Amino acid sequence: MPPRTPSSPRSPRLPVLSILACAVCSACAAPPDDSAAAATFPEGFLWGTAVAGFQVEAGCPTLPAETCEDRNSDWYQWVTDPDLIAERGNYLSGDPMSNSPGHYELYDSDLDIAASLGSNAFRTSIEWSRLFPDGAAESATTVEELAAYADPVALAYYNAYFDAIVAHGLTPLVTLNHYTLPLWIHDGKACHDDPDGCTNRGWLDLARIKPAIALYSGFCAREFGDRIDWWATENEPFAIVLSGYLLPGEDRTNPPAVSRPDLAIPVAFNLAEGHAAMYDAVKANDTVDADGDGSMSMVGAVPNLVAVAPLDADNETDVHGAADLDYVYNRIYLNATVNGDFDRDLDGVAEEHRDDIAGRMDYIGVNYYTRITVRGLSGPLFADYPATDFYPEVVWEEYPAGIADVVNLANSYGVPAVITENGTQPTDDSGEVFLRPHLQALLGAIDAGADVRGYFYWSLMDNYEWNHGTELKFGMYAVDPVTKARTARPIAETYASIIQNGAP
Ligand code: FCB
Repeated sequence: MPPRTPSSPRSPRLPVLSILACAVCSACAAPPDDSAAAATFPEGFLWGTAVAGFQVEAGCPTLPAETCEDRNSDWYQWVTDPDLIAERGNYLSGDPMSNSPGHYELYDSDLDIAASLGSNAFRTSIEWSRLFPDGAAESATTVEELAAYADPVALAYYNAYFDAIVAHGLTPLVTLNHYTLPLWIHDGKACHDDPDGCTNRGWLDLARIKPAIALYSGFCAREFGDRIDWWATENEPFAIVLSGYLLPGEDRTNPPAVSRPDLAIPVAFNLAEGHAAMYDAVKANDTVDADGDGSMSMVGAVPNLVAVAPLDADNETDVHGAADLDYVYNRIYLNATVNGDFDRDLDGVAEEHRDDIAGRMDYIGVNYYTRITVRGLSGPLFADYPATDFYPEVVWEEYPAGIADVVNLANSYGVPAVITENGTQPTDDSGEVFLRPHLQALLGAIDAGADVRGYFYWSLMDNYEWNHGTELKFGMYAVDPVTKARTARPIAETYASIIQNGAP
């Protein structure tokens, strides 16, 4: 989930702190940990920056827009359709995609920038709808059959792209599904208008999406696995649920942006099933050890995990509500995907164990942005789901110490963690307010025994921030929407020096 835009009307159920939350974040920063001061990050630690295909590709300076933009994805439809933009409750900026950074054309010089930070890794994503723009692909039943439907231009692009990442000395960590779905499997507009009656229902239709996304993932693993060992299946499954099906609001709307708890909870578990199918497909098809470390692939998912605090630590209802928010937000998906335990009625007890889902997590990719402060309620926020007895009072508090909480939470599932995103806007220009305190806290956690394999800052450059368009700026590099010039912010130098020292 993205840090919130300052000052604006909020969705009624998710009041978030306004700009104040950001203004006080330095006060929340964990004090530098003296015991960690002498320590350095482990050998082989992945230091990187992160981007996502949809957010950076469009806006090419010379290539025609129809080549540069991927017009076959649900997100392209979501942010460009005039009717959807006109509907105020969709909170769509209407910014043209052409204001994006044009990474599709400029990736080589972007990788120069990434490498110049001294980083050794880079997180990006593949757009399913670029590789398979046509619904005819759905008739394939094997990866071999699917290959016949791959778009040759997209295939050539991704091959050149991954070659370039490796040539820059960067280990790619590649997300197979960073929110976007092909229109032929998810018509977000039709499902926004009629979630019960739409035909291409995305994550609502497990019978269709599970085999299709598994085959696509297997295809990617087979084609690109000789350069990629680190795979991420799904980005922020809970954000898809929350902003797509439960509480779309100004902070984030994901297509189809409906408020339907009866659909949201099934989607959460469909995403868990999707992850397992993608995991198996990658494992079966990535047969090359790209980095020579002895393993063909590390496959994980990327949940957004939050630190949680009760509003009043002496109030039992608040403490209980905080534990339940932690359960619903952080653990439901991990319990399902790592342990195979499904609690579909959110009563805190798994009623179903799935061996065919369990154990499919080589690492947990953690997107960490914020701490949520919770007021407990005497009854559930959503009838029929007992563990929703909380009200998030403060949703956006930058809280560096929480990065230790979330990596420890990930490790408690018995798997290593990678910080796959961590960043802020308005930009921490100097890197001293947000970046350094977070890395100090992360190093403190590692020093205390946490198994963390890497850190990716969100983001290398300003980009198209989903429904907010180009208004929110997360980049270490600013991007001029017209000339496409990249300009380093001071934080880039701070990050480079931290990487060089191996310590914050
Ligand atoms: C996360 C998304 C990422 C970006 C950041 C700011 O929720 O995974 O794509 O939008 O927020």
